[in-house]
Amino acid sequence: MKCLLVAGARPNFMKIAPIQRAFFSRRNGHSADVLLVHTGQHYSRNMSDDFFRDLGLPEPDINLEVGSGSHAEQTARIMMAFEPACQEHRPDWVIVVGDVNSTVACALTAKKLGVRVAHVEAGLRSRDMSMPEEINRLCTDAISDLLFTTDAAAVENLRKEGVADARIHFVGNTMIDTLRQQIGRARQLPLPDGLTPGQYAVLTLHRPANVDSPDSLALILGAINAIGDRIPVVFPVHPRTASRLNGIELHSGVRAVEPMSYLPFLSLVASARMVLTDSGGIQEETTVLGVPCLTMRPNTERPITCEIGTNVLVGTDPQRIVREADWILGGHARAGAIPEKWDGRAAERIVDVLFSQAVQAHCLVRE
Ligand code: UD1
Repeated sequence: MKCLLVAGARPNFMKIAPIQRAFFSRRNGHSADVLLVHTGQHYSRNMSDDFFRDLGLPEPDINLEVGSGSHAEQTARIMMAFEPACQEHRPDWVIVVGDVNSTVACALTAKKLGVRVAHVEAGLRSRDMSMPEEINRLCTDAISDLLFTTDAAAVENLRKEGVADARIHFVGNTMIDTLRQQIGRARQLPLPDGLTPGQYAVLTLHRPANVDSPDSLALILGAINAIGDRIPVVFPVHPRTASRLNGIELHSGVRAVEPMSYLPFLSLVASARMVLTDSGGIQEETTVLGVPCLTMRPNTERPITCEIGTNVLVGTDPQRIVREADWILGGHARAGAIPEKWDGRAAERIVDVLFSQAVQAHCLVRE
């Protein structure tokens, strides 16, 4: 079996690392030729290379080096660069993860060449078509042959869209596989100077809806300043956000730092009193770590983190954000539970399904 395993942007790297490893640990007589494809959607050292190092990922076998651009430019460049790679390597499967532009671009390219596509983290829905990721999720799921989901709600979403059960596999969460594998190393790292475990907050912000308009960004950061007056807030600034911070005053309690690589960031989150974020993956990581999370968005494609985890959807009203943070600082954070199958073995389940498909295909050919 030959597979192209695709990653393009920061959150993809944590999702592919355990899959890449599981292909070797689960071989058990099967043979698999797995080539790692980096689209180059993220390319800066602190958005890409540092993650490969922290996660023990090998150098990509193929780097498409597409870089940044508008959605159409970036998606089109990935497709144009990925098509010849697919034609040259003729994989049995293209495996894509998550919901970034690289995900949909490579899925579409492969499918039109008649190559089967497996989508890891399928079925998540925010029902918010103003999010580029929601469009990427819908399009990728519509054309993928195998849909690997992180929870039962995602399975239901796919069923409601008419996807046959045979294509859907509830396997768990490969991002959490990585967290479980790396948390021991992360906890050994020292915290940045001046921070005490349980006595600081962490902030991440990068959604276009929150950071692209100066007014929205200023309103959210007004709330963060108020929280920073009560407890230190560490703010690793995403490049999209960094370019829009000019002219916005941050109080001394809010410490803006460069984007962090995987292990230092995991270490920071694991010991935080709370996390404020608009990210998707961080909602899941905080749930598993048992750290209170306030998600500054009107919706989430990961409702399980609110239903049973530590996540609270607080929207972007500054007063609500400060009120919910005060509630946590007052000792009222709720304890959460960990979703089913977020046990560190999702990638093994995925690879087992792919190997079993290869066996079935082999039997059909022999018949
Ligand atoms: C992308 C994903 C988003 C994901 C996020 C994680 C899409 C549609 N969006 O958003 O789902 O949550 O990554 O970070 O795929 N830049 C750099 N260095 C880099 C990459 C980007 O400086 O390595 C800068 C560029 O100025 C670029 C901007 O960041 O224009 C935004 O990058 P882009 O990949 O377009 O979108 P993200 O906001 O990172």
